[in-house]
Amino acid sequence: MTDLPDTMRALMLTARDTLELQQVPRPSPGPGQILVRVAASPVNPSDLMTLKGEYGIDADYPFVPGLEGSGVVVAAGSGLMARWLMGKRVALATGVGGLWADYVVVDAARALPLPAGVSLGSGAMSAVNPLTAIALISLARKGGHWSVVSTGAGGQLGRMIRKRAREKGVKVINVVRRAEQVAQLEAEGARHVLNSSDARFDEDLARLCRDLRCRMAFDAVGGAMTGRLVAALRPKSEVLVYGALEQSAVQLHPGKLIFREATVRGFWLSQWLPRQGLPRLLMAAREATQALGGGFAVSEVARIVPPEAAQDGIAEYAANMSAGKTLIRFSDADLGVTPTA
Ligand SMILES: NC(=O)c1ccc[n+]([C@@H]2O[C@H](COP(=O)([O-])OP(=O)(O)OC[C@H]3O[C@@H](n4cnc5c(N)ncnc54)[C@H](OP(=O)(O)O)[C@@H]3O)[C@@H](O)[C@H]2O)c1
Repeated sequence: MTDLPDTMRALMLTARDTLELQQVPRPSPGPGQILVRVAASPVNPSDLMTLKGEYGIDADYPFVPGLEGSGVVVAAGSGLMARWLMGKRVALATGVGGLWADYVVVDAARALPLPAGVSLGSGAMSAVNPLTAIALISLARKGGHWSVVSTGAGGQLGRMIRKRAREKGVKVINVVRRAEQVAQLEAEGARHVLNSSDARFDEDLARLCRDLRCRMAFDAVGGAMTGRLVAALRPKSEVLVYGALEQSAVQLHPGKLIFREATVRGFWLSQWLPRQGLPRLLMAAREATQALGGGFAVSEVARIVPPEAAQDGIAEYAANMSAGKTLIRFSDADLGVTPTA
């Protein structure tokens, strides 16, 4: 560790909506831990919620946000696993932030070595969305559902859900909110795409749900959308709310719940993962990383920014999320992805 600097750059959230680039002491790994030189970390909707103090993590200010990313292991504490990871390129999902910095310390069990063909850029986005797509489609299959409604379908996770569903034989009614997203998804091969801004949306959604006997929805939006889904789905439906993109309370007429015996519940990957057990978890992680090279797990990257320009990169992402992720680059390592913007 003698060659490593004593301090590092970190994007520090010092209060709600106050992100500052600071020079701070570099952490050191303890027993069973690794020190990772961070290559890149994306900006996800969960990060936007974290910046507003609305995400489900218990962290006191100041702290470093960034829930997933990639990098190279440059130091290891004691323990076989930690030492085995030394020098390896890894994907990380910390569950508590910490990735928006030059270095991060994590438990060795939280690092996933990247296969040779997977770039550090793709690897930075290999955990949260791909595993969520796997989880949601497996929940649909377990519940005996062969068709689902998916909102926020023009985003990266929406696209992954559609592709993963196709692999597993599940039909998807994709819901977006702009006409150009309809055209985009149809050009990508999506069969059922509805625009929630259209006057006939509720009617069209109910008709499609009837035709496809659809009783399950994955809702990334919340607000009024959740109630519209319950109203359109077949009776005894289940709506899994997994995102809060509308940033407003779920609106739902109790009559729709009662007389249709509908269920609305939350889904959080951080709760789902620990329930799976190690073998299933490893299988899901392997499937996710394998699907980065042209499979369902590929994410579009709109722009790559250094930490000094993170604020602009975050704002640009929030203004047009469908265009692709902002990746914050912390090292000179080749990320192997080409931004679209
Ligand atoms: N619960 C979990 O465990 C879990 C795990 C992973 C992700 N998520 C959630 O999944 C959601 C999607 O993530 P992502 O990575 O796919 O995001 P993304 O790539 O940024 O895409 C977000 C999509 O949602 C659309 N959108 C934004 N605000 C909207 C609104 N108010 N109404 C309707 N559509 C809206 C965007 O369209 P525009 O371009 O029109 O803005 C964009 O197409 C997020 O809410 C995220 O927090 C949850």
